[in-house]
Amino acid sequence: MSLRLGDTAPNFQAKTSLGEIDFYKFLGDSWGILFSHPADYTPVCTTELGMTALLKDEFAKRNTKVLALSVDPVDKHLSWIGDINETQHCAVEFPIIADDDKKVSLLYDFIHPNASATATVRSLVIIGPDKKVKLIITYPASTGRNFVEVLRVLDSLQLTADYSVATPVNWKEGEDVIVVPSISTEDAQKKFPKGLKVVKPYLRYTPQPNK
Ligand code: BEZ
Repeated sequence: MSLRLGDTAPNFQAKTSLGEIDFYKFLGDSWGILFSHPADYTPVCTTELGMTALLKDEFAKRNTKVLALSVDPVDKHLSWIGDINETQHCAVEFPIIADDDKKVSLLYDFIHPNASATATVRSLVIIGPDKKVKLIITYPASTGRNFVEVLRVLDSLQLTADYSVATPVNWKEGEDVIVVPSISTEDAQKKFPKGLKVVKPYLRYTPQPNK
């Protein structure tokens, strides 16, 4: 099944390195990130899962629960986690789904048959507290993800969910944002008391409203 932005993220039950989970119960009212990984005991995945563990406080600050997936069984995940903790100097405390029957991978479109018939590609799906899909990024197995970008995009998604703003190219937390086109300049002046810089009638900047 293909999954698109705005779709309801499908719920599932799955075996994980931390026991059985129900995805929606695991997420509760938080934001969620589901990372797919090609396979256990692979080098790029080892570094990515280590980084996910090391960023625990950053995800918690953003009220975001993370979980990973690969198509290997629980016992393999558990022994691999030992290697991840040892080599990446971290403690993996989030669940890794053991999707050996590929149920979740097929539900979330993580298998791209023209890339690999059996392994999952390196996707990440960000899910909002409303359980809607907010972002999907897919990388090939050979390219590790940039976790600075993962946090940056999460900041943008959370900001733009709460305010009538969008974030410009290469935006980072704390920088000016763009007022969405549906707000008139007159309304924007009232809505954004920190100030409005009108470059063009359709290109209007304001300081980040929640800072
Ligand atoms: C890796 O995760 O290291 C990897 C997996 C498949 C192909 C290349 C790298």
